[in-house]
Amino acid sequence: MSNKLRLCEAASVKDGEPVAAFAEGMPALAVYNVDGEIFVTDNLCTHGNAMLTDGYQDGDIIECPFHGGSFDIKTGAAKAFPCQVAIVSYPVEIDDGWVCITKPEGAA
Ligand code: FES
Repeated sequence: MSNKLRLCEAASVKDGEPVAAFAEGMPALAVYNVDGEIFVTDNLCTHGNAMLTDGYQDGDIIECPFHGGSFDIKTGAAKAFPCQVAIVSYPVEIDDGWVCITKPEGAA
């Protein structure tokens, strides 16, 4: 059985407008377009109960809607206080126009 998960159509994700995505056995996900390249991270901020897709994308930075913390979309690294713990960033594959990630080992 393949561990590849289809999230959404790549063409539906516009630069600067992150999209929430859901896949069985995975935490809430966020899909981004940065200069035409697609990235996927966890959607939940590591500082609190905020969805990053409700925040503000500025280039390759996503700012949380709650306390102004931010993350690097490409790596998941925390970039601005109060965020200190990185979000998970997933390797992306575009398959037949679909944004896909591979379910990590050990995921439910
Ligand atoms: Fe995201 Fe506080 S919940 S910065």
